[in-house]
Amino acid sequence: MQSTATTTRMVTLAARPTKDPGPEHFDIVTTDLPALEDGQLLVRNIYMSVDPAMRGRMDTSEKHYTTNFRVGGPLDGSAIGEVVASRAAGVEAGTHVRHRLGWREYAVVDAAAATTIDPTIAPMRDWLGILGQTGFTAYVGLTRAGELASGDTVFVSAAAGAVGSAAGQFAPLLGAGRVIGSAGGPEKARLLVEELGLDAGIDYRDDLPAGLASAAPDGIDLYFDNVGGDHLVAALYALRERGRIALCGMISDLRNRDTSPPISHLIQATLKRLTIRGFIVRDHEDLRPEFEHRVAGWLRAGDLTSRTTVTPGLENAPQAFVSMLAGGNVGKALVQIGDEA
Ligand SMILES: NC(=O)c1ccc[n+]([C@@H]2O[C@H](COP(=O)([O-])OP(=O)(O)OC[C@H]3O[C@@H](n4cnc5c(N)ncnc54)[C@H](OP(=O)(O)O)[C@@H]3O)[C@@H](O)[C@H]2O)c1
Repeated sequence: MQSTATTTRMVTLAARPTKDPGPEHFDIVTTDLPALEDGQLLVRNIYMSVDPAMRGRMDTSEKHYTTNFRVGGPLDGSAIGEVVASRAAGVEAGTHVRHRLGWREYAVVDAAAATTIDPTIAPMRDWLGILGQTGFTAYVGLTRAGELASGDTVFVSAAAGAVGSAAGQFAPLLGAGRVIGSAGGPEKARLLVEELGLDAGIDYRDDLPAGLASAAPDGIDLYFDNVGGDHLVAALYALRERGRIALCGMISDLRNRDTSPPISHLIQATLKRLTIRGFIVRDHEDLRPEFEHRVAGWLRAGDLTSRTTVTPGLENAPQAFVSMLAGGNVGKALVQIGDEA
């Protein structure tokens, strides 16, 4: 089927926020679609991802994972959709692809920048979540940046979120001895143990250092850091000698730098001979086939719980993004833009 869509609704950046964004920082506009050129696909978007890094991209000051958003210009990010018209050899209408032009109903995508996904292997949502960039981030952080070793006691922050819920569940499957997670509020802390199977869940809004001391009285070997700030400081003190930190992201600092603790706590890294390694997932594509093979196998075997929080409607995408930053999600935060069928 070749689509006749000639316009699309898309979300644009109306203004740059200084703290957490609100509805006033977004607009929804209708715009003409460009004509398809050779090698391009017209994609009807079905799901799109909302990610913490998008908050950094709303600023001017700092380069994050990719380019910063322009005021008046469209937002972008990972999405999955159905090809409805194709001028690319080998990609038929009806194929499902993952690409980078979310935040709009229809996207004209270079076929070279799109990946075909197979919804018979896993549901489409998982291809943006546990089997997508989110799960891949967890896998790279544990195996390569964190050098997870057999028997390790692992602490994962934002463990009820997308990357964190994947990391917390992958860790024992990769050989960790004990896995502790932190999340905001008692319900999320309970969910970490009861639904995701972690050994202990800490409500960080209570007393994080005390929670960590009680969950890991002998200390931790590896900290998977999604949060930064007070979490990173608590982990520095909880780590054993020669422990490791995989620096994945710092959502607490991304949201509010005014309360970031002093860097002087880092002396713990010297005293304990720690290894701290930051990573950006896209530098590790060589691990992707191994990751997809293993995680698809774990999903088939029923070893993983894949949680998503899905907000319906492109018009609600800004709210889904704002809510995810404040912890409104469990698992991967997605927006459903179109029907699956
Ligand atoms: N290095 C890479 O290549 C890479 C790739 C992807 C993502 N990341 C990073 O991975 C981290 C997680 O991303 P994600 O997509 O999985 O998001 P997510 O964890 O699904 O959502 C963000 C979560 O952060 C928590 N949070 C918000 N403010 C917080 C604070 N001040 N202190 C503690 N927790 C807070 C909230 O959970 P609570 O309810 O528990 O507070 C919220 O659900 C982010 O830092 C992101 O930047 C890095």
